[in-house]
Amino acid sequence: MHPSMYGRDFLKMLDLTPDEIRHLVRLAASFKEMKRAHQPHRYLEGRNIVLLFEKTSTRTRCSFEVAGRDLGMGVVYVDGSSSQMGKKESIPDTARVLSRMFDGIEYRGYGQEIVEELAEYADCPVWNGLTTESHPTQMIADLLTMQENFGRDLSGLRFVFMGDAQNNVGNSLMVTCVKMGMHFVACGPEKQMPDPALVEKCRQIAAETGGSVTLTPDVAEACTGAHVVYTDVWVSMGEPAEIWGERIELLSPYAVTQEVMDMTAENSIFLHCLPAYHDLKTGVGKDVYEKFGKKELEVTDEVFEGPKSKVFDEAENRMHAIKAIMYATLSPVQ
Ligand code: CP
Ligand code: NVA
Repeated sequence: MHPSMYGRDFLKMLDLTPDEIRHLVRLAASFKEMKRAHQPHRYLEGRNIVLLFEKTSTRTRCSFEVAGRDLGMGVVYVDGSSSQMGKKESIPDTARVLSRMFDGIEYRGYGQEIVEELAEYADCPVWNGLTTESHPTQMIADLLTMQENFGRDLSGLRFVFMGDAQNNVGNSLMVTCVKMGMHFVACGPEKQMPDPALVEKCRQIAAETGGSVTLTPDVAEACTGAHVVYTDVWVSMGEPAEIWGERIELLSPYAVTQEVMDMTAENSIFLHCLPAYHDLKTGVGKDVYEKFGKKELEVTDEVFEGPKSKVFDEAENRMHAIKAIMYATLSPVQ
């Protein structure tokens, strides 16, 4: 028997049991097979969902839109600047209005408390498409990508997050890894380490699952024998541009280079939630180069384009994962 998630919200990884996480990854894998085989799966025909985006997005927005349509649903996209939410209408009022019209609500934006408040007042499932503190839909895609490379049981794998480990992706990965019985290593300067209370909570979870949490500034100690090396941008959406100088100074020693990948296990992979600054083909990348003279930031182009990089499988898996999350929470039969 798999766990039922019908009617539930999807707000942060701490809310899920290991069995529920595994169920979502299984569902995502089976939706991926169906999609590849062009097998229709309009299981939620006639439903409607709304996507609220207060921050920009390529993968998350497109994943919710395509996944929603593949499942037979109507999809409405609302961007922060054009809605009343937060400015002329409170979060509780917005939640109650939208849940009279829609079967599910996605929110991408700022504080975790906003998505939690939406969920408290909405009568339908609310899905977190990224907040300042967490990025849970990304986690199901990342687990699917790891499973495709290492097989079903991820427990015991050594997972290293390099750089800004206190951000939404770093936080969520720490929780996800320990729930899966993996060894999570945050490698970076002390200032960018996850919140001590969350580290403590994760260590308690790890004690039950056989995983572990290590925080270290030492790249060789972290990466020797690692199975997965993961990184994310050094400045996240919502942080001021003025912080780039400080972050570059603090985090440059933690860039994922070929030298770093050479320390890892033979079958290791490189992951990144994307978007990534690995060349000068982006506006921000060019600005940073002009100010600080750095052509590549959190990952070198060599690693990003290299054979261990699975970042585009990971990006595709966002769509299958989000489909699984919507299906699990909206369908009474699974
Ligand atoms: N990884 C991710 O969430 O990408 P977007 O910001 O493009 O949605
Ligand atoms: N930490 C990044 C993740 C983007 C998907 C951000 O919040 O901007």
